[in-house]
Order: sequence, then C-alpha cells, then structure tokens
Amino acid sequence: MNVTALIVAAGKGERLGGDVPKQFRPIGGKPVLRWAVEAMAGHPLIDDVCVVIGAGQEAAANTLLEGLPIGALIPGGPERSESVLNGLQAIRQGAVLVHDAARPFCPPAVIDRLIGALKENDGAVPVLPVVDTLAMGLGTLESPVDRKNLLRVQTPQAFHVEDLLYAYEEAGRASATDESTVMLAAGLKVATVEGDPMLEKLTTQADWDRAEAILASRMVTRTGMGFDVHGFEGEGPIMLGGIQVPHPRGLRGHSDADVVLHSITDALLGAAGLGDIGQHFPPSDPRWKGASSDLFLSHAARLIFERSGIIDHVDCTVIAEEPKVGPHRSAMRERIAAILGLEIDQVSIKATTTEGLGFTGRREGIAAQAVANIRLMPNA
Ligand code: CTP
Ligand code: MG
Repeated sequence: MNVTALIVAAGKGERLGGDVPKQFRPIGGKPVLRWAVEAMAGHPLIDDVCVVIGAGQEAAANTLLEGLPIGALIPGGPERSESVLNGLQAIRQGAVLVHDAARPFCPPAVIDRLIGALKENDGAVPVLPVVDTLAMGLGTLESPVDRKNLLRVQTPQAFHVEDLLYAYEEAGRASATDESTVMLAAGLKVATVEGDPMLEKLTTQADWDRAEAILASRMVTRTGMGFDVHGFEGEGPIMLGGIQVPHPRGLRGHSDADVVLHSITDALLGAAGLGDIGQHFPPSDPRWKGASSDLFLSHAARLIFERSGIIDHVDCTVIAEEPKVGPHRSAMRERIAAILGLEIDQVSIKATTTEGLGFTGRREGIAAQAVANIRLMPNA
C-alpha cells in the first residue's frame, strides 16, 4: 500500500493574525510547515509527501522546504475542503494521510496507529477525550452536555484515496472542517486511534505561546569556544569584528584575516558540534582566498538555524597591544549582530593586552578568543 501524506497549508491564519500565514512563521526556530513536512517525510511508512499551498506562495514554500523530499506542491482553494480535494485529485490512488500544516508536531506513534487501523477500516483518525465540563448556553448556561461519548478529532486522518474522493462526491463538502465528517456523511466507517496533545492545532495566540513553551522546555543549552591568531604583515587597514579598522600594519591570512569573526565562527561551530572553520572552509581552497569572513560567520549561523537552533549570546576577547578596540567596539557589535540576526545586547566584544608579554605583547600579531551559547533541539 503506497502511503502519501497530504499536508494542507493554503490557509490565511486569520484567527492567529500577523503579517504572514501561521504555517510560514517560525516556531522553535523553524517554520511551522517545515516541522509538519519533516514529521511526515521522516516516517518509514510514508512514501510521498505532497503539500497544498495558497496562490503566489510557491517561492516562499520552496525556500522554507529546501532539501526536503516533496512529491508535489499543489495549489489550494478558498476553503480547507477544496484544498484537500485538489490534493486528492493529484494523488488519485493508494492511502492518504490528510494533515493540517497547523499541527506541526506529529509523533511517529500516531502515524503507526493510523496506518495499522486503516488495514481493517475505511478510515482512521486520532482522537482525544474531552476533559472540561461541557454545556449549551449563551451568557448563562442552558443545559449540560454529557461529555462521556464526545471526542476531539485531530489530524492526520488516514483513508484510501478512492474512498475519500467517493465520499466527497456523495456527501458534498459543505461546512466540513475535516475528512472524517465527509466520510461519515457518505455512510463510511471511520475508526478511532489514540491522538496526542502534541497534535493540538495552532489556531490562536494562546496555542502558539503554549507550543513555544513546550519546545523551549525541550531545548538544551550548548557552549562552544573558539580561538584564532593572525600575524602582522604589510600595510593596513585591517578587518576586525566585521569592520575596517585603520592600522599601519596589515594582517596575514588566506581570507581577510578577521580574528574576531574567525574565533566567533569556531565558537558557534563548536557549540553545535559541527567541527571547525578549517573543515568548512579549507585554507587550501582558492575560493576562500581574500574572502570576507562574514561568509564564514553567516554559514555557521545558518547551520545552527537549520537544526532549529537559537543563538543566545556570543562573547569575544581581542588580545592585542594595538590597535585599540574601544573606539570600534559599538560598530563591531552592531555588525556581528547584523550578520547573526541578533540584538546588539547578545553580542559582546572585549579587549585586553598581555602586558607586553608573548607574541601579542611583542606586537607580532592579534589573537582573539570567543565563547558562544546556543540552544538546540536534541536530535533535531
Ligand atoms: N487550509 C487550507 N486551505 C484553506 C484553509 C485552510 O489548506 N483554504 C489549511 C490551513 O493552512 C491549515 C489547515 O487547513 O493548515 C487547518 O485550517 P485552520 O487552522 O483553520 O487554518 P487557517 O484557515 O489558515 O486559519 P484561520 O481559519 O484562522 O484563518
Ligand atoms: Mg480556517
């Protein structure tokens, strides 16, 4: 049985608000839609992933889904049910897991249960019990509702594509908020499996805040350190902390010899356990000759963001008798914050001399050491 995950992501996210529809917004450092696609694409029982997106959002979707195995990007419709139908018509056969992009965290065990149940049923959906007291009424309570037999129905929902297409044809799509409703209206049987609180839909700001808090509590802090030295040679100016600093002597190096950016790059790579700058940008590679070190630093940051990581803080000490760092400190912090997408108070630049001792004391070159703190999702 070929299983396709059909993720609908063509909504406008009006109840959450904001400039960008919720499925394109980052949560825990990664766009909602990317979380949803990764959960499906990473499951061994799922063969293909198709995504339904709104008009004009192809470029944005392609960017945020870069590197993921997507079978097709399908245009959505004005209602959720039309978005689902467009997807089903593109898939046509096999089994399908219809899933809301707005439920980004799908535990693999739920997918196992759904595909297991689909073998003996027309469809299967994840459900959770209702825990609050329920009642009818407006302003004042009219009558209590027995919650004993009530269920909250989540997605993904598993069906045979042909059955679901038949159900949509029979029952029509009027006011269906999910596929189980359409299946029942067409007289087909839908089994229930245990759902999961991680599948709660992100609908309002309160849902969003709760999901952010859960993600944050699962992240771990990692610290990395970096160290770099370049010797003086030729004439200045020099690059230091991403800005040009006037100095009578230049610095020797394959790239632009910016010790501050190099040491911060190594600290970030170290925090993420991703080796060192020489592994990513070998000095033997002519591409990096004279390269601006912004490239190295933004590369390290991108690798962390791709792992859903968050950079909390970087701190660098410049070790040199000359030039004086003080007059340039603010500009350096601003530049580094801009490269890393941080606020200026997340970047610290300090300086010290070595009291005339050692190679820096003899004014033979400049050293820098850095520390970076990041947060990562284990196994993300
Ligand atoms: N969806 C869709 N096409 C639509 C409407 C919704 O593909 N015309 C998708 C949404 O992108 C979402 C899922 O269906 O992943 C569930 O819908 P909902 O939570 O209602 O999302 P929105 O419609 O975007 O939000 P709102 O109703 O607040 O505008
Ligand atoms: Mg909606």
